[in-house]
Amino acid sequence: MSNLPLRPGLAGDTPYGAPEMDVPARLNVNENPYPPSPAVIDDIADAVRAAATRLNRYPDREFPALRQALADYLAVESGVRVPWQQIWAANGSNEVMLHVLQAFGGPGRVCLSFTPTYSMYPEYARDTLTEYVTLARRQDFTLDVEAVRAAIVAHHPAVVILASPNNPTGTALPLEDVRAILDAARGAGPFDEDGAPTDAVVVVDEAYGEFRRPGVPSALELLADYEHLAVSRTMSKAFGMAGLRLGYLAATRALVDALRVVRLPYHLSAISQAAALAALAHREELMSQVASLRDERDATVAWLRAQGHMAFESDANFVLFGPFEDRQAVFEGLLERGVLIRVVGPDGYLRVCMGTPSQMEAFRTALTAVTRP
Ligand SMILES: Cc1ncc(COP(=O)(O)O)c(C=O)c1O
Repeated sequence: MSNLPLRPGLAGDTPYGAPEMDVPARLNVNENPYPPSPAVIDDIADAVRAAATRLNRYPDREFPALRQALADYLAVESGVRVPWQQIWAANGSNEVMLHVLQAFGGPGRVCLSFTPTYSMYPEYARDTLTEYVTLARRQDFTLDVEAVRAAIVAHHPAVVILASPNNPTGTALPLEDVRAILDAARGAGPFDEDGAPTDAVVVVDEAYGEFRRPGVPSALELLADYEHLAVSRTMSKAFGMAGLRLGYLAATRALVDALRVVRLPYHLSAISQAAALAALAHREELMSQVASLRDERDATVAWLRAQGHMAFESDANFVLFGPFEDRQAVFEGLLERGVLIRVVGPDGYLRVCMGTPSQMEAFRTALTAVTRP
């Protein structure tokens, strides 16, 4: 036991993170299983080498070239074009979201989210001394918009986080629901210093946006209509660049400018900026596996159902399935067979993320062996 003056609220907390294990099929943290090609590796290495010649200098604090490249990518991916000043980036969307909570949360303020959902949200709130309030999703993990509206009116949240597609359920929200929540958030945020109501910031976390099924729109389409909307994305998932730590967000300039106030100076290293720019130049190749991962996901849902399990429709690169009387035993049985998945979500359920065809074959074989011994 130490005698350190740990901040109240942190006592007993342990660092967040899924197990990191060297097993043949790592299907537990929603990564892209395909490593970059030799050509991409070469270009990233060249870009990093060039950046290294200037490492005696601090990096560009505003990184307009990278923000422009991210804006160009979003325009191609979703058809929505924004100027680079409306893009923000940081070390993973984790850090982007922390910036949002640092700028808009704080003591006496509320962050509202909808469970089951991504387990880092309460940590962003804890770390910024923001109260974290949750509302349960419906049985099918969609949102009851009327209940959301009532929660917004009751709590005056500063920040509302909507993960879409949601982790760990894979559920994407219809745009009319996002629109209704944005309308409810208008004038329903905390009161400002003059006692006037503010608009609650609504963050749509689209970390898995690129995996959405055809016809499922992105909340980026609503950016022009709502000044209190932010849409966050990441290079960690579809892009296959989890090791790079590069997340980003699109919003109005005023919202992005608020994030610039709270970021640490030079938060995005010259190496990260150079590597991200080089990777974005290869976006077509890096994204080329997205279609096959989507097919793998749909096939996995179908296969799990054929085995008699419940598997939820997913717009992400993972599937939530179950229920199991002892999900921990199923998890451990798979692990013994070299397949690492995740114990997360409602009681009895497990989440598997999409791997290569041979990893998915290993998953199917192992699950069959464990559940039908
Ligand atoms: C819903 C959601 N948002 C954000 C993230 C964080 O992604 P990163 O910090 O790697 O960009 C994750 C990672 O698993 C996630 O599931």
